[in-house]
Amino acid sequence: MRVGIVGCGAIGTEISKAVDEDERMELVFLIDRHPEKVEALLHTLKKKPKFVRFSSEGFEELLPHIDLLVECASQSAVREFVLPALRAGKDVLILSVGALVDAELFEEVERSAKENGCRVFIPSGAIVGIDGLKSGHVRRIYHVRLRTRKPPLSFKGNKHVSFKELVEINEPKVLFRGSAKDAVQLFPENVNVAASLSLAGIGIEKTEVEIVADPSIDKNIHEVEVEGEFGRFVTVVENVPSPSNPKTSYLAALSAIATLKGIISNIKVGT
Ligand SMILES: NC(=O)c1ccc[n+]([C@@H]2O[C@H](COP(=O)([O-])OP(=O)(O)OC[C@H]3O[C@@H](n4cnc5c(N)ncnc54)[C@H](O)[C@@H]3O)[C@@H](O)[C@H]2O)c1
Repeated sequence: MRVGIVGCGAIGTEISKAVDEDERMELVFLIDRHPEKVEALLHTLKKKPKFVRFSSEGFEELLPHIDLLVECASQSAVREFVLPALRAGKDVLILSVGALVDAELFEEVERSAKENGCRVFIPSGAIVGIDGLKSGHVRRIYHVRLRTRKPPLSFKGNKHVSFKELVEINEPKVLFRGSAKDAVQLFPENVNVAASLSLAGIGIEKTEVEIVADPSIDKNIHEVEVEGEFGRFVTVVENVPSPSNPKTSYLAALSAIATLKGIISNIKVGT
C-alpha cells in the first residue's frame, strides 16, 4: 500500500516510522507546513519518501502516486487535503476527526467517498470501546456517556475556565456536564474523543459528556459507559501522553498504526 502523510507532528512521526518499518507499505510523500518538522522526521527513516512538500500547492499531482492518504495535521487540513484526495479516488485515514463535527463537512466527505468509490477510515484514537459501541448500535443504544478526567493545568488556555480557577483546584471538580455538541464548543481539547464516540454511536446531540479537572492524576483518563439492548459496558483508559506533544495521547498514534495494518491484513480481528 502506497501511503502519503500530511502532518509530521507527534502522530505523523509515529505513523511514518511504522510505515517505513513495514515491508507491505511504502511511504511516498510527507507534507508539513513547518519544514523543520519534515527534516527531523526524514533523519529517522530508513527509506526516504519520493516527495516532500510544505503546502498544498501542487498536491493533486502527488495523488496518482498513492493508494491512501493519512491526515494527521489539523482540522483545516481535512478540507485542504482530504477532500481533494477523495475526489481523486483515494482512500483516506483521518485523525483530526473533530473536523467532522461540522455536519456540512461530514456530508461532503461522505458524498465524495461514495461518488469516487473510496473509503474513509477513522481510528478509535485515544478511547477504548468503539468496537462494543458499534456492535451494540446494530440494535438499540439507550445512552453513551464519556467522562474525561485530566490534570487541571491541561485546561490552561481554555476560554471558559480561568488560570486562577485551575490553580486553586484541590479536589476533583466537574467543569462541564452536557451534550457532546456543547462539549466540543466549550472544551475543544475534547473534540476528537467526543467526535469519534458520537460518530460511532448515537450522534453528537445524544452523547453525554462530563469533563473533570482532577489534581490527583497525571494522565488523561477517559471512561466510556454504554447501555443498550445488548446490556452495558464500561471502559477506562489511562493515557500516557505522546513524548513530543503532551496534548496527544500516545494511544491515538498507535490506534492509527493498527488501523493501517488492519487495512492490509487478510484477517481482521475485532469489530
Ligand atoms: N482521533 C484522536 O483521538 C486524536 C487524538 C489526538 C490528536 N488528534 C488530532 O490529530 C492531529 C495531529 O495531532 P498531533 O498530536 O500529531 O499534532 P502536532 O501538533 O504534534 O502535529 C501536527 C503537524 O501538522 C502540521 N500541520 C497542521 N496543519 C497543517 C496544514 N494545514 N498543512 C500542513 N501541515 C499542517 C503542523 O505543522 C504539525 O507539524 C490533530 O488535529 C489532533 O487534534 C486526534
